[in-house]
Amino acid sequence: MEDQKRKKILCLGLACLDIINVVDKYPEEDTDSRCLSQRWQRGGNASNSCTVLSLLGASTAFMGSLSAGPVADFILEDFQKHHIDVSLVSEHAQCALPASVVISNISTGSRTILHMNRNLPDVTAEDFAKVDLRQFKWIHWEGRNAEEQVKMIQQVVMYNSTLPQHQRITISVEIEKTREPLYQLFPHGDVVFVSKDVARHFGFLTAEAALKGLCSRVKQGAVLICAWAEKGADALGPDGVVLHSDAFPPESLVDTLGAGDTFNSAVIYTLSNGGSLQDALTFGCKVAGSKCGFHGYDGIAEKFTDN
Ligand code: ADP
Ligand code: FRU
Repeated sequence: MEDQKRKKILCLGLACLDIINVVDKYPEEDTDSRCLSQRWQRGGNASNSCTVLSLLGASTAFMGSLSAGPVADFILEDFQKHHIDVSLVSEHAQCALPASVVISNISTGSRTILHMNRNLPDVTAEDFAKVDLRQFKWIHWEGRNAEEQVKMIQQVVMYNSTLPQHQRITISVEIEKTREPLYQLFPHGDVVFVSKDVARHFGFLTAEAALKGLCSRVKQGAVLICAWAEKGADALGPDGVVLHSDAFPPESLVDTLGAGDTFNSAVIYTLSNGGSLQDALTFGCKVAGSKCGFHGYDGIAEKFTDN
């Protein structure tokens, strides 16, 4: 058991550059205005989730692709600064690093993202087959190249089948974008995060309705979780009971970029330490709500760290 505790949480998915423009008024089209501030930040859902997990005190690793050159170096150094293991990152020297231009409005907390990924390939099942799974207790997939991701998950299921329950790796998946191929991930997670965008796409108007409507897609015994911004988040466990946590809004909404990634990480953090689903949901909303009150993620450490 002790050995399992020391194992890492691995997140697979995107790392990109976020160029964040902080404004107090959303710009009109075809105008020339000044920002209050501008910064570069490492972004991407899986990359952000690693940041938050690490700030909360978990050992984490990121698996994904990077290009070569100064922007990739900035990303890599920031991973290292946050004590995130990058030994599974692969470099694609001929590719361009994905980037987002973000307009972050401090008057409303809204974040408007313009993202571009020209040609950086995602991790494949073949890459994943080389990973020594013994170092991990939890693996989280940000839904992207779903067909390959299902094959990766099957590798973990095979690995788990050789082990007693308490040594198995927990599998979580995030289905955030409204893209049909991602929906094949539903039956493959022990824990499945579905976004309000996807929920709405299926015609659900609340998190609870989404959980009830989508639960037949997840495997037996799985947990389905749906966050809904200022409405908080709901979860449905194997016992069929819908749990809820209200949101914990900060004094002033400043920056909602990565609120969902923060929520997911805080939930994973709690569950991976043996916490209950209700505790995980509440902690997810607390950490994500608090994060909306400051820029970036680093403020999480001083507010929530258990070190
Ligand atoms: P994203 O749009 O980044 O995927 P969500 O809207 O799903 O994120 O929100 C994730 C969690 O972040 C919510 O469950 C909530 O706890 C918190 N959160 C997000 N926006 C707000 C807000 N405006 N006020 C309070 N909490 C928020
Ligand atoms: C936030 C985020 C940003 C990134 C964008 C990609 O959730 O991961 O860091 O630019 O989404 O869609």
